[in-house]
Amino acid sequence: TTVWVPQDASARAVGADEVAAALAQVEGVTVRRNGTRGMLWREPLVEVETDRGRVGYAEVTADGIPDLVRAGMLTGADHETCIGVVDDDRWLAAQDRVSLARIGLAEPTDITAYEAQGGWAGLRRALELDPADVVEEVLTSGLRGRGGAGFPTGIKWRTVLEAEADQKFVACNLDEGDSGTFADRILAEADPFTLVEGMTIAAVTVGATEGFVYCRSEYPDAIARLRDAIAVAGEHGYLGEDVAGSGRAFRLQVRVGAGAYICGEETSMLESLEGRRGEVRAKPPIPALHGLWGSPTVVNNLLSFAAIPMILADGGQAYADRGVGRSRGTQIFQLAGNIARGGVYEAPLGITLRELVQDIGGGTRTGRPVRAVQVGGPLGAYLPAERLDVPMGYEELADAGGMLGHGGIVVFDDTVDMSRMARFAMEFCSVESCGKCTPCRIGSTRGVETIDRLRGATDPGERTQLRLLLDDLCETMTTGSLCAMGGLTPVPVRSALTHFPEDFERSRS
Ligand code: NAI
Ligand code: SF4
Repeated sequence: TTVWVPQDASARAVGADEVAAALAQVEGVTVRRNGTRGMLWREPLVEVETDRGRVGYAEVTADGIPDLVRAGMLTGADHETCIGVVDDDRWLAAQDRVSLARIGLAEPTDITAYEAQGGWAGLRRALELDPADVVEEVLTSGLRGRGGAGFPTGIKWRTVLEAEADQKFVACNLDEGDSGTFADRILAEADPFTLVEGMTIAAVTVGATEGFVYCRSEYPDAIARLRDAIAVAGEHGYLGEDVAGSGRAFRLQVRVGAGAYICGEETSMLESLEGRRGEVRAKPPIPALHGLWGSPTVVNNLLSFAAIPMILADGGQAYADRGVGRSRGTQIFQLAGNIARGGVYEAPLGITLRELVQDIGGGTRTGRPVRAVQVGGPLGAYLPAERLDVPMGYEELADAGGMLGHGGIVVFDDTVDMSRMARFAMEFCSVESCGKCTPCRIGSTRGVETIDRLRGATDPGERTQLRLLLDDLCETMTTGSLCAMGGLTPVPVRSALTHFPEDFERSRS
């Protein structure tokens, strides 16, 4: 009997390796290691191959294996931990998986399985087309930068394609530092060839011969998996001097960051890739024209690259058919924080935050009412429970005072003290600021102090004065910071003040 046990970092964190070792001791069992299916609350999710398909058992422990085997697990027998045929599971089957289509299905670096599941079709089509037509396809798809800023990917690629230069680069931002985000990691660990294919399509389109994946050091499994995948893709002729027999060259390598949030900002990332301290560069010039070592560079987030293979294989229109308003295609939402069913959920943009948090996420893990939801990482707004009906789209969220960012959703129940969360936003900025500009470097530290004073103040006059001071500081940071780090930190602070003023009225520690 073949049994699949995820080797994803989140599954390993809750004992997947021990489960795999215990299963390997059982007679007649062959253990294979897939990536996660993304249902993180069910990890370790063990899947047994049966005539009906792969039957899943949730939250399996190594100690529980003998009982499960006795209960008939190896024939897919029912059990309290059994979720039935995994592909038919409602949570999974209801998703519209485009970029995540292949996660959890096979060994992540099994290139034969990748090909069998439709892999490389996008690259083959890209190689048949004129580069300008590939760009046209990406423009038709409506894909916008999934790192968070939402800039049209096709326009970025066209800028690099049309730039005159002897050398061009492609760089993938895998410095996933936002709180509550883990989609990049899951995809890199579970299906690294999709990233390799997306980057290779970008390279052969714009004429880049060198590529870098900039991965945060906190993701050792993703780093190892990507390096393996790059080696395997090279052996099979999809990378190297002659990409898929096209005569075009593309060499790809992984570079590891040293643990700074700001290296997720694209120009800091370029500095770091060049071997310098990760400090923000002023824009313009934009990296598309003046990127790595001064050459035109496509810098995209992993999730943007991961959408590309399907866009080329099925056509941009198929992607554009999904979505809402100017937000086309799907988004990989990451359900995190105090949520009953945490994990990755890919759905067309336009799904509401309420559907994601309540119906799909199952509300809070504690069972208490949802009080606030932060969308878009530590720089995103805290939305109160009354605003959950907002459709998840770039403009739609902006209209509601929020931002989509990288699609991270962090849920809080009614025990949260929002004045502490506001303080945390300022503190995070003061710790992670690159220090290049004053409003961010000094402003964030003054922000922590001011919020502390506000939380402790009892005199109404003093409170009003401190509120004005904080408002002034937020204004200075918003308008005077060089990048989004200092520029957006006031967003969560102000949203907490606007929607949860009562939390600043009483002093809680
Ligand atoms: P931005 O708006 O300056 O740029 C977006 C992208 O478009 C960049 O790659 C830029 O080089 C490119 N671009 C702009 N004009 C262009 C043109 N005319 N031609 C070609 N390319 C052009 O935004 P930025 O500062 O890169 O990102 C800010 C966003 O990052 C925030 O909105 C936030 O959501 C997100 N963010 C994401 C994090 C994560 O972990 N994924 C962490 C922190 C922030
Ligand atoms: Fe650096 Fe902060 Fe200024 Fe950005 S806003 S350049 S992180 S000091």
